[in-house]
Amino acid sequence: MAEEIVVDRGLEGVNVGETVLSNVEGEAGRLTFRGYDIDDLAPKATYEEVVYLLFYGKLPNQTELSALEATLAGKRALPESTIAVLRAIPHDAWPMDVLRTAISSLAHVIPHKASGQHPSDVDAALGLVAKTSTIVATWDRLRRGLEPVAPHAKLSTAANFLYMMTGSEPSAEFAKALDLYYVLLADHSYNASTFSARVTASTNADLYCAITAAVATLTGELHGGAPSQVQDTLDQLGAPEKAEQFVRDLLKAKGRLMGMGHREYKVRDPRAKHLEETAKQLNKGGGSYALARALEDAWNKVLKEEKPTARIYANVDFYTAPALGALGIANDEYTCMFACSRIAGWSAHVLEQYTNNRLIRPKATYTGPAVHPFEPISERGREPAGSART
Ligand code: COA
Repeated sequence: MAEEIVVDRGLEGVNVGETVLSNVEGEAGRLTFRGYDIDDLAPKATYEEVVYLLFYGKLPNQTELSALEATLAGKRALPESTIAVLRAIPHDAWPMDVLRTAISSLAHVIPHKASGQHPSDVDAALGLVAKTSTIVATWDRLRRGLEPVAPHAKLSTAANFLYMMTGSEPSAEFAKALDLYYVLLADHSYNASTFSARVTASTNADLYCAITAAVATLTGELHGGAPSQVQDTLDQLGAPEKAEQFVRDLLKAKGRLMGMGHREYKVRDPRAKHLEETAKQLNKGGGSYALARALEDAWNKVLKEEKPTARIYANVDFYTAPALGALGIANDEYTCMFACSRIAGWSAHVLEQYTNNRLIRPKATYTGPAVHPFEPISERGREPAGSART
């Protein structure tokens, strides 16, 4: 009897590797970084502490933290060649396209081996952590016709982003809010972009190649591209009292509500409550926050009536939109902000992949035509491709 081949489309539930970096417990709704619960890290740790945790395996003491902060501050400036690349891009380019190109260009000024690879170690990874925010802020200014602002060595990664974007030091409230966002998004096990980075690293391609692949993978709305569309939805909604009808119409049309649902979490995403609280404070309980809150309530109510067994709850992207919007960050840059934080997790995963590498190369079940003879061009029919045989 022929062996039954099981095809796992989407690799749902398939275990493809190991990691010590983070753990997603989808049924419990828990996310941990090296054993620390995100619920503890979010209010108590800074992004720099989390970066240290991911790269060095423990939380830093004050001396270690100060040294890391100084290292990151020293690596923030972009090479002239990357600034030149950014200046050459049309101002209406999609920000994630710009980020992908600029990240890739960082490698151009770094010496490489005869085989092409650039150094791919913690030092290189910290350079990427430091520079990703600079790229996004620099592009934000250039496309508005403004000159870039040089990084501020005394500010945190998050505060410095806001400083480079606006040209003035952010309030403590804004700096803390963005830092919290950076902490929450720093890693998330084998999500699509991280897996993409690990696949690329598994070929022995270097860190810059792997991170460029990760940025590209993050772009899609089924992953990091959702928050901009959440914002569009909130703008379209316009008033909280329209939320219930909006959800009914959306489900009737078999549409998807962005910011809802997750492959792993079958309860509300544990990051959502922290972002909701931040969005609420920044919007003083109104504005986009009030719209999002009404939409989530309506979603939970209508879904319970119409799809009682569905387990589709708010994910990290839902309250990202009202939080980042209140910080003055442009709607089309939300996914870039995701990358500014996740660069830490991606890089740590790439380094982890190198330590115990095996080429990642799955199989696929072939469903095309059976083996058949090659036809000389004079004997080929006029049928459209694919219609000739099965
Ligand atoms: N709105 C409406 N229906 C949704 C939904 C959403 N946000 N998310 C999932 N569903 C429904 C699907 O339509 C499907 O219904 P069906 O079985 O009747 O066809 C079912 O739930 C399973 O969806 P599927 O896409 O197979 O599940 P998944 O595990 O791949 O879903 C996501 C994960 C994130 C891709 C999905 O929830 C989604 O598209 N969410 C919206 C985009 C988003 O927020 N992305 C950011 C993720 S962090």
